[in-house]
Amino acid sequence: MDTGVIGWGFYVPDEVRTNKDLEKIVDTSDEWITTRTGIKERRIAPPEMAVSDMGVKAAKKALKKAGLTPFDIDLIIVATITPDMFFPSTACFVQAKLKARNIACFDVSAACSGFIYALKVAKGLIESGSYRNALVIGAEKLTAITDWQDRNTCVLFGDGAGAVVLGPVKKGGIKSVYLGADGSKSELLNMPGGGSRNPATHETVNQGMHYVKMKGNELFKFAVRLMAESAYKALRKAGLDKTDIKYLIPHQANSRIIWATARKLDLEKKQIFVNIHKYGNMSSASCAVALCESLSSKGVKKGDNLLLVAFGGGLTWGASVIEVS
Ligand code: ACO
Repeated sequence: MDTGVIGWGFYVPDEVRTNKDLEKIVDTSDEWITTRTGIKERRIAPPEMAVSDMGVKAAKKALKKAGLTPFDIDLIIVATITPDMFFPSTACFVQAKLKARNIACFDVSAACSGFIYALKVAKGLIESGSYRNALVIGAEKLTAITDWQDRNTCVLFGDGAGAVVLGPVKKGGIKSVYLGADGSKSELLNMPGGGSRNPATHETVNQGMHYVKMKGNELFKFAVRLMAESAYKALRKAGLDKTDIKYLIPHQANSRIIWATARKLDLEKKQIFVNIHKYGNMSSASCAVALCESLSSKGVKKGDNLLLVAFGGGLTWGASVIEVS
């Protein structure tokens, strides 16, 4: 038996913040944001809503689609860089809220590549024979670590969650996952405050160290190259060629990165899944939500090969070929 996606669902908060709304907060314009990023609006979770709350809403939909109950789940992995707390893991909060059994629960931190990292871990654990059904969630409340006075970053991010149930499938499923990282480039994208390097103090708060810091245009150059390379490596691992791919589901960081990656892979516009205009960059949740939306779209059928590819802080990157089961 192979491991495949047997259920999926996503959740985004109701509150929409448009580019026009941001014009009132920082020195920016709808025109700049749209042309430089492709983003028109993003979703904002209310103050009382944490990442596990969004993850649970997505997970319930995924379980329903799989025809399973929380009792059937053997493993929960949450990919996130905005956990409810440093510890316990957000996966433990999800388990408690779902009333799942006392199964293994943990988080994966790989920024925007987190969902693909989590897929690889869950697939490996299922195929080792340890577990049968895994709940894999990509969920973020990036707006909680966004500096709303920094126009370089605040126009980019949004909140949301996507969840899949992985389980045994007779045909298709996750054909390959390729992962990579380069920790020497960590200064390009990070949140310096709050960890053991810079524990929270009045000073770290005053210096804005609990917000995302990003060197956007330096990241941009790596993004296009690494997304395309990762895609080719995942294809090779799966024994496939780019002509075997029906849809590319790229991380939604910037539409220019998405289209440049598509060009490098020589794919047609209609093959590229894009939702960045609605949600912005939701880090670990971006690929998860995009996968869920594409699986629910009319164009995607059983037997189609989907190519997920992501890139993010770490630096981390990864790609996965999934045959729709
Ligand atoms: N509105 C208006 N002007 C702006 C804004 C804004 N919101 N933000 C920046 N500018 C200005 C800059 O100040 C600069 O002005 P200057 O020339 O007078 O200095 C000018 O626009 C150009 O700035 P750049 O940073 O060079 O703009 P760029 O075209 O590179 O676009 C962006 C910036 C959108 C951030 C782009 O670099 C990008 O998408 N980078 C990749 C991001 C990414 O991949 N992140 C990884 C995943 S995120 C994660 O892991 C959480």
